[in-house]
Amino acid sequence: MKHFINLSEIPAKDLRKILIDAKKRKNSRKKLSILEIDKGAPLKGKLLIQMFEKSSLRTRLSFYLAIKQLGGSTLTLRPDELHLSKGGESIEDTAKILSNFGNAFMLRTDNDKKLEEFKKYLSIPIINGLSPSSHPSQILSDIFTVEEIKKRSISKLNITWIGDTNNVLNSLIAASIKFSFKLKIGSPKNYQPSNKIMNYIKRTKNKIFFYNDPFKAAEDADVIFSDKVISMNDKVNIKKKLSHFKKFKINKKLMSYSKNNCILLHCLPRGTEVDDKVFLSKQSKVWHQAQNRVHVQKSILLYCLEKLR
Ligand code: CP
Ligand code: NVA
Repeated sequence: MKHFINLSEIPAKDLRKILIDAKKRKNSRKKLSILEIDKGAPLKGKLLIQMFEKSSLRTRLSFYLAIKQLGGSTLTLRPDELHLSKGGESIEDTAKILSNFGNAFMLRTDNDKKLEEFKKYLSIPIINGLSPSSHPSQILSDIFTVEEIKKRSISKLNITWIGDTNNVLNSLIAASIKFSFKLKIGSPKNYQPSNKIMNYIKRTKNKIFFYNDPFKAAEDADVIFSDKVISMNDKVNIKKKLSHFKKFKINKKLMSYSKNNCILLHCLPRGTEVDDKVFLSKQSKVWHQAQNRVHVQKSILLYCLEKLR
């Protein structure tokens, strides 16, 4: 049994194995319809329990389809209908019950400590479906999308992030270290990842560069990533924060600093950080990116349940 909480804690070779499996599985189901089960039904009889403490569209749907296509099933719990969130039942007791009823637990939480606390008491794998500090299933799937579209290892590409220094970026930073790719980060002054992340970057021989000028960050990029300026966990003065990011809007001018065939990725949902002319252009691969989450999360589930081919 393996947990999937942060990319930084997972060996690079395991992350690569997940991507290789996802590619094989995606290719082998080209003629299958959405609810048809993969050959061999590797997770037949298995139940994924999901719980969302925050809103979700893509993560919810893609994990639903992922376990279904592997022959298993899923149940989504509403935190407000459990005893846990009302303080009547501990994480320890909840975790023990989940372990008896299910085979894996996917949690989207508003508190990173909950993931660790659940991990301590679960005897089934836990998967992080987004926390305030990371979004690992999203970024691993995005690495898959980049390599699929660019037909090259991500280690040979220039990756740029323009926007807030948030959970999705933290996972992209971890991916940069694990997959050894160059990452330029363009964000306003005073927007830096947490000290924990900065120390993690320092400890490893890295290829990560910070810019307060979005045009410098975009220069020569093969891929530009972005995300909402205001995240679900953001307790900030929204108007003030948005004003700090005015210069960081991804528009045609900014894209022109990157390579001609540069693509845009954005995990969605979106705010106003990307101009519609770019978001809805051919360079934007955001819809394809969202769809790929099913394929990669299938291999994440197989990894967690020790069934990776
Ligand atoms: N990208 C992503 O995780 O989307 P949802 O919040 O809709 O799950
Ligand atoms: N950074 C965003 C990602 C949403 C998928 C958030 O945490 O709200």
